[in-house]
Amino acid sequence: MCGIVGYTGLRQAGPVLLDGLRRLEYRGYDSAGIALVTDDGDLFVEKRAGKVANLEDALAGDPPSAGIGLGHTRWATHGRPSDLNAHPHSDCTGRITVVHNGIVENFRELRGELAAHGHSLKSETDTEVVAHLVEDAYKGDLADAVRAALRRLEGAYALVVMHRDEPERLVGARFNAPLIVGVGDGESFLASDAAAIVAYTKKVIFLADGDVADLLPGKVTITDRDGNAIQRVIDIIPWSAEAAEKGGYPHFMLKEIHEQPTALTSAMAGRVRGETICLEELDPIRERLADIDRVEMIACGTAYFASLVGSSLMQDWLGVSARSTVASEFRYSPPPIDARTLVVAVTQSGETADTIAAARLAGDRGALVVAVTNTVGSAITREAHASVFLQAGPEVAVAATKTFVAQVLTLVLLTAEVSRQLGRRTLEQEHELVKELRLLPAKAARAIELSSVAEEMATRYADAVGFMYIGRAFGYPAALEGALKIKEISYLHAEGYAAGELKHGPISLLDADVPLVAVATRSVVYEKLISNLMEGQARDARVIAVATEGDENIAKLATDVLWVPDTAEPLSPILAVIPLQLFAYHMAVARGRDVDQPRNLAKSVTVE
Ligand code: AGP
Repeated sequence: MCGIVGYTGLRQAGPVLLDGLRRLEYRGYDSAGIALVTDDGDLFVEKRAGKVANLEDALAGDPPSAGIGLGHTRWATHGRPSDLNAHPHSDCTGRITVVHNGIVENFRELRGELAAHGHSLKSETDTEVVAHLVEDAYKGDLADAVRAALRRLEGAYALVVMHRDEPERLVGARFNAPLIVGVGDGESFLASDAAAIVAYTKKVIFLADGDVADLLPGKVTITDRDGNAIQRVIDIIPWSAEAAEKGGYPHFMLKEIHEQPTALTSAMAGRVRGETICLEELDPIRERLADIDRVEMIACGTAYFASLVGSSLMQDWLGVSARSTVASEFRYSPPPIDARTLVVAVTQSGETADTIAAARLAGDRGALVVAVTNTVGSAITREAHASVFLQAGPEVAVAATKTFVAQVLTLVLLTAEVSRQLGRRTLEQEHELVKELRLLPAKAARAIELSSVAEEMATRYADAVGFMYIGRAFGYPAALEGALKIKEISYLHAEGYAAGELKHGPISLLDADVPLVAVATRSVVYEKLISNLMEGQARDARVIAVATEGDENIAKLATDVLWVPDTAEPLSPILAVIPLQLFAYHMAVARGRDVDQPRNLAKSVTVE
């Protein structure tokens, strides 16, 4: 949602904060700002609507000399994007400054109360009330004042507060929004995620909800909101700063598409052993897994599409009822849930508010909750009885790519493991699957190679007014994901549809300006899919087929073909999505879009 970074130590804080903000910009880019307590003892604040580049222009490359500061990049919720609403926000005295990610739900009530007590609030944001609450509570100890202010807040927050008169101290707090502490040698950091600080330290503390972190250079004290001391372990970030850089690619999205063979290899690391699959993460919940009689998957966006593959497989391989539900809808019509229900929450960031809320509801009703996430230490891991990590490395582009394929693969592994434990699949079936899994990274690399035609194709399709994407069975989630990629980064309408539904309405949209993209890889539904493809062709639509290498039939039917290698059907969405990602990428480039930071979006959505 928003990105936060804070620093206290011997370095120049300004460049550390700007570097962190650039790395966090994927979280929001409506505005950016920093505050510093300068070496002269002044509180310096600069903030600008728009991207971090605007802030850098305003600073003219020369922030004042300071060893402490905080910074923020915003995805607007309360108050339109503007210089005034940009963070940091300050109190009446101009000594206290705050950055915040989340939503203060009772901010209207607090605003009224603060105004009645003579406070002057300048912005339209919910965040500004925090600065004024701290001002009211301040009696010479910033951490005490922050704790007092927190006790008044309802809603979600990750925040960092700084006081001009305590020029080495930062206080951070989290509740339902991510915040980590970076532990350095003679320096300390706070950040929304590790990407902002990994260039300086790999030692981090994942704060839990309700934690308050009191930072001095090289010293971190953690308490709860009442001031009781809390011990938290230090974790080591397993990737380097370079992993979160473009590495010579023009965009993060292109880099991450090319990282997919490696991401698939990593997702299998330690889990595909010899001829079998073993997820040790499930060991603590084996007994409960043995009893499950139903599976519910919850997720949003791309993760939801990946979960469709997972629930379909769970139903098939486990022989129990399984379904996927968009997390934001799950709570409004929750299914019957009890101790025998396995709930799988799929989320790249592990911070998506809708998914966390749905997982919490499921947990409260007694379900066995498993998180499938890319982010160690994220909020979803605290809601879950077990967490299976994607091991895909950091994904920076707002449009998810490598984490989709890692999610599908991880769900296949999870399903294979559980179905074997329940005795629903034979060892021979598992050996067959493992054989295919071992070939998958090389096949993904081949799919990338075969998709080189997507660049030229995009120039021919850049004038389309919209797209219809269709697929059946395992091709359906790939079609949905392909359409989402076009929408997100090209700003063109693209509808993902179950191919059989085309004739029940959306076929009326097809014409020469609305191409049909059909996921028509080898499968049991291939012939039916071909019929749907021909229905589109008969309506003058240009047809792009994603097809299995060697399928001579399809080249005669489609205007263009994006080839992928053959694989086992449950793994087919992993390969089918690759040309669709590249087609969407090149469409966005051809249409001059901001590929990595598309308008109105943010990578992790920590509000409901
Ligand atoms: C996909 O390109 C988007 N970034 C979005 O749909 C995303 O998948 C969704 O917001 C869920 O995020 P999560 O996986 O971090 O929960």
